[in-house]
Amino acid sequence: MLNEMMHRPVVMESIVQFMREGQLPFEGQVAEIEAYANERGIPVIPHETAKFIDFLCASLQPQRILEIGTAIGFSASLMAQHLRNDGHLTTIDRYPDMYERAKENFAKQGLNNRIELLEGDAADLLPQLDEAYDLIFMDSAKAKYIEFLPECMRLLRLGGILIIDDVFQGGTILHDEKKIPKRVRKIHRKLNELHQVVLTSKEHRSCLIPLGDGLLMIRKESDKIDF
Ligand SMILES: C[S@@+](CC[C@H](N)C(=O)[O-])C[C@H]1O[C@@H](n2cnc3c(N)ncnc32)[C@H](O)[C@@H]1O
Repeated sequence: MLNEMMHRPVVMESIVQFMREGQLPFEGQVAEIEAYANERGIPVIPHETAKFIDFLCASLQPQRILEIGTAIGFSASLMAQHLRNDGHLTTIDRYPDMYERAKENFAKQGLNNRIELLEGDAADLLPQLDEAYDLIFMDSAKAKYIEFLPECMRLLRLGGILIIDDVFQGGTILHDEKKIPKRVRKIHRKLNELHQVVLTSKEHRSCLIPLGDGLLMIRKESDKIDF
């Protein structure tokens, strides 16, 4: 039987709207940070992605979390809600306008003892980390994902999960490179390289999820890092 969804856009606009408006809003400070970001166009994960991450964290209860790309601390605050007293979250950002606001937001929620904010470029900071994380959320400069991937895999425990955000490049990821504007061609090429190495790996389980601009999820299943 024909699967008619195969010939339609993956996520219809009305469904995106439903995912944003039909799912319960967050509460308290997390909801306030989300609204603050959305009102000002600060790039935080969309509501449907946030609901998924909230569901995943509630289900898996990761206790050591690493985030690359804090912005003003929306996704970090959301994930930190699921930490037990001995759990902790480390988040990295290099842009003071963002991380100063994140610090205020963490303090307001009394999360300073559970969230460690590292200020600087992930390229410099990741090699200095030495912990086995249950969950890593990578949501930073897209052209760098492929460069950070081996460090993320090194830092994941076996069975740990890496979530990479925004991997469909606004739906243009499969377009011919010649049709991609020059200013974003490098991102397009690097994201395609990322898909190629991850999706063909037999060492680690992976899947794509069409939430927001696409999530690529990888479950570390061996100590062999083939990318
Ligand atoms: C999309 S925002 C993160 C949103 C956040 N995860 C949320 O949903 O609440 C991306 C952030 O990554 C940071 N960033 C980009 N490249 C980076 C790098 N190489 N090292 C550290 N931070 C980086 C930017 O400063 C920006 O604040």
